[in-house]
Amino acid sequence: PSAPVLTIDGPSGSGKGTVSRLVAEQLGWRLLDSGALYRAVGYAAGAAGLDLSDAEAVTRCALATKIRFHAAADGGDTRVLVNGHDATDELRTETGAAAASAIASIPSVRQALVELQLGFRKQPGLVADGRDMGTVIFPDASFKVFLTASAAERAKRRYKQLKEKGLTVTLGGLQREIEARDSRDASRTVAPLKPAADAVLVDTTGMPIAEVVAKVLAVVQR
Ligand code: C5P
Repeated sequence: PSAPVLTIDGPSGSGKGTVSRLVAEQLGWRLLDSGALYRAVGYAAGAAGLDLSDAEAVTRCALATKIRFHAAADGGDTRVLVNGHDATDELRTETGAAAASAIASIPSVRQALVELQLGFRKQPGLVADGRDMGTVIFPDASFKVFLTASAAERAKRRYKQLKEKGLTVTLGGLQREIEARDSRDASRTVAPLKPAADAVLVDTTGMPIAEVVAKVLAVVQR
């Protein structure tokens, strides 16, 4: 039998990343950070000097790029290796996010990443974090959650995260970038950001992380 999957989709800053990691730890399940795959391809394409709107070239790049996740030696954040180079810090920047969003709108690039994502489904289970986990990649998942939060709150969370990482950003600029990226993610024709019909919606505005984690765990344990 195939391993159980919990999909956690939603826009950036909805708390997806943190919640997915904590829920996966609690359940003892594997974690798929699908956004990191799109960021890695965007990064590799940029490093190769490709035009990010060149569908054929970026698709070839997506198929050729070796992406590996590995646990940090100090117990910190999981490192992302792109063609052997630790690109974790570059991937997290707003430039990295913008490149990811640009290449993610190319259907053949998304197709190139399907098999890699399906490969994460292993016993005892998988928590899949992204935009289209419940709608496109794991439509048969037993558990589906869609996290939302107001754009202002999401910008504030992102601002805090980036500040902690020592990056220089402004709240207003960040909110504009988030809104632009969300509308691009939601309006694209292929795998737009939208809740699966059978997803449980959780609005996390003003909700502490622990409460969101409890709500998501309840979906799996009910
Ligand atoms: O989740 P994260 O912010 O890392 O995702 C970066 C970008 O990658 C998103 O803005 C979106 O354009 C794209 N993405 C996607 N499908 C996914 C995950 C991420 O299109 N499953």
